[in-house]
Amino acid sequence: MNFYFNLHFVLSLSSKVSYLLRMKTVLAIIGSASENSANQRLIEFLAKETGKDFEWILFNELKSLPHFDPELSVNNPPEEVVNFRKQIEQADGIIICTPEYVFSIPSGLKNAIEWCVSTTIFSDKPTGLITASAQGEKAHEELQLIMRTLMAQFIDETTLLISGIKSKISMSGQLTDSETQSELEQFTNSFMNLVDGM
Ligand SMILES: Cc1cc2nc3c(=O)[nH]c(=O)nc-3n(C[C@H](O)[C@H](O)[C@H](O)COP(=O)(O)O)c2cc1C
Repeated sequence: MNFYFNLHFVLSLSSKVSYLLRMKTVLAIIGSASENSANQRLIEFLAKETGKDFEWILFNELKSLPHFDPELSVNNPPEEVVNFRKQIEQADGIIICTPEYVFSIPSGLKNAIEWCVSTTIFSDKPTGLITASAQGEKAHEELQLIMRTLMAQFIDETTLLISGIKSKISMSGQLTDSETQSELEQFTNSFMNLVDGM
């Protein structure tokens, strides 16, 4: 009994240590429908800053997902959806970075999330939510409600609203606002801790 208890303890400890030591994968989902998106530049900036901590995968193909179909979603999901779900499932953490469109999240992002409602892939998944927009309050609130409903794991510190994004990031992807830079740093530290289970 003691031997098995100890063995179990050692095995679970060593799997936790190897989880902590291995490079974590973050899937960043860009909510914008634009080619030259400030949200994408923001994620590219973040990926550059944290390149030694995370392996980043950018998902910027919301347009490639077909329109949501509840029956297909359960019985025969399209290949693009299967691949999208797989990327979420395999990531250690997810960051959704999106603008606000007409006081809501963009339809492409909502569509992608709807394809995931019949699954549990977001359940307990360490998640960061960034709304970077002209204003963005409504979409930011909505995104949190949606992701809470899908049981994603996030805390206040892994959510960030950046209003006036276009004046805060240059076309070459440099953050030009020091307050935003420090908010993004705090966000990143909290997100790292969440992904590490701390
Ligand atoms: C169709 C459309 C609707 C928009 N509606 C809003 C809005 O309701 N609130 C807001 O803050 N910005 C709104 N915007 C402005 C975008 O948030 C802003 O252009 C943002 O920088 C876009 O992000 P992106 O550069 O990553 O595409 C809208 C933009 C578009 C294209």
